[in-house]
Amino acid sequence: MKFITKSILAIAASTTLVVATTSMAQPASSEKQAAKATELRQSIFKLLGSNMGPLGAMAKGKAPMNAEAVETNATRINQLSLMLADYMRTDTSKFDVKTEALPKIWQEAEHFSKAIENLTTASAALVVAAKSNDEGAIKKAIGGVGKTCGGCHDDFKKD
Ligand code: HEC
Repeated sequence: MKFITKSILAIAASTTLVVATTSMAQPASSEKQAAKATELRQSIFKLLGSNMGPLGAMAKGKAPMNAEAVETNATRINQLSLMLADYMRTDTSKFDVKTEALPKIWQEAEHFSKAIENLTTASAALVVAAKSNDEGAIKKAIGGVGKTCGGCHDDFKKD
């Protein structure tokens, strides 16, 4: 019985993975649509950058630590991370768009989803650290978020 349950769970899990992978990428239908999708995803990354900038400065001691501001920005980063899967779904790799996104994004959907999830988890941890008002913990958690940005860029973004 135990074995059967396990097998069913394994089948259910593998089915979910297949669904997640196939629903991830949707080829753009035209150059125009590809350009629009590119603009929208870059908007999210610009907002991520704008919210991360001050946090990096605080972590490096170049700006005074402000736990409230950290909580605000970490919350935004967390919310933006939740939009990434949707806004990255359109595969623009067949079109001539101005982008630093590597085609791998749409070929390795599972790996890419994991990179998004890492940002969601790290930004949630930063919200918790900010609430604690413990400067050491906050700096460490900012570093944790930065690592997930850099990790995804290493794998999925042109230099
Ligand atoms: C899951 C992968 C992933 C994560 C996580 C990620 N990025 Fe990126 N980022 C990309 C990709 C891919 C691009 C290139 C997008 C394009 O050019 O179409 C990009 C582009 C950017 C850009 C340039 C935007 C522009 O077009 O001007 C900035 C800034 C940026 N990311 C900042 C960040 C910051 C800060 C974080 C963490 C808080 C982060 N990213 C997390 C994948 C990621």
